[in-house]
Amino acid sequence: TNPSLLILPGDGIGPEVMAEVRKIIDWYGANRGLAFDVTEDLVGGCAYDKHGTPLHDDTMAKAQEVDAVLLGAVGGPKYDNLDFSVKPERGLLRLRKEMDLYANLRPAQCFDALADFSSLKKDVVAGLDIMIVRELTSGIYFGEPRGIIEEGNERVGINTQRYTESEIDRVARSAFELAMRRNKKLCSMEKANVMESGVLWREVVTEVSKDYPEVALSHMYADAGAMQLCRWPKQFDVIVTDNLFGDLLSDAAAMLTGSLGMLPSASLGAPMANGRPKALYEPVHGSAPDIAGQGKANPIACILSFAMALRYSFDHGDEATRLEQAVEKVLADGYRTADLLGEEGKQPVSTSEMGDAIVAALDAS
Ligand code: NAI
Ligand code: MG
Repeated sequence: TNPSLLILPGDGIGPEVMAEVRKIIDWYGANRGLAFDVTEDLVGGCAYDKHGTPLHDDTMAKAQEVDAVLLGAVGGPKYDNLDFSVKPERGLLRLRKEMDLYANLRPAQCFDALADFSSLKKDVVAGLDIMIVRELTSGIYFGEPRGIIEEGNERVGINTQRYTESEIDRVARSAFELAMRRNKKLCSMEKANVMESGVLWREVVTEVSKDYPEVALSHMYADAGAMQLCRWPKQFDVIVTDNLFGDLLSDAAAMLTGSLGMLPSASLGAPMANGRPKALYEPVHGSAPDIAGQGKANPIACILSFAMALRYSFDHGDEATRLEQAVEKVLADGYRTADLLGEEGKQPVSTSEMGDAIVAALDAS
């Protein structure tokens, strides 16, 4: 049977960029004998419009069954005043929570053709290809106690950083597995110098490393890590860190390489019966209401998210590389959506022209 894929285009530019991914999926079916059982469904504002909820139970059940979920983006001004319980983002949060997607993979990859676009020096970013694994379901964003309390005659805002051994263990395993598929080099970042959770983090990661003797493990304080990421990011391959540090480090690392329209992501959970991890792939960007419906969106972030699905859910790393090289080729040939043009006075290509160019590059591969 074919591998199964649930596609949730969502709102705003989500459906526009997903339409280009559909062209790529069709290409693989027609040219590489790689057919997927694709189901498409609603998430976010469009699901609220139809069902009064940003994620229907049937969609949630489907997401639990398939080999991978691919999501566009959710949200938009139309939904900004909705009650918190039915806001579009809640659809995405429900998927992440019920699928228990604890490992968030955020690559920072620099295509040579865009090296000039980075705010850093070209030699610092050219050829950069690193991956940050951020713990996504625990840590200071979720720890109890939390809240704003009265103490004496003032208020105190409280959050608690809390990690159990098992929470650290499972995300560390995801990172080691990833390191094994890449260059067998992993750097774990925390602040064991000032945080108890950091001490435990370092202990547990070190313990897990015994199961991966081939992986060269190093540890770094997260603040020093931030500095090193900007100074010489190519020293890293895979980085694993907690929810808070990962939020900051992955945003910073991603921006080393240019536009939001280029950034894919994956969120992985525990292995399913077939050995594949539960997985949700999505571009980092949102629904971009300012450009929605105008054919201006860059589809590459969503296309690269599908490449991650090929690699991490479907064991087609070679086909993922083929797709990434097709993207590299169109960029080298000068194709640019508006977000990749900066100050240059060139004429941008549209969303569908970019998708077509990538399909043509696949044809030529
Ligand atoms: P955004 O990522 O949608 O847009 C930020 C800026 O980047 C905008 O100027 C937009 O035009 C541009 N941009 C984003 N993706 C692009 C692409 N593929 N090609 C070209 N330009 C692109 O973030 P913003 O404006 O803060 O949020 C807009 C809506 O999206 C809100 O409703 C927000 O809640 C939602 N959102 C959803 C996310 C998701 O579905 N995972 C993530 C972030 C925001
Ligand atoms: Mg963030």
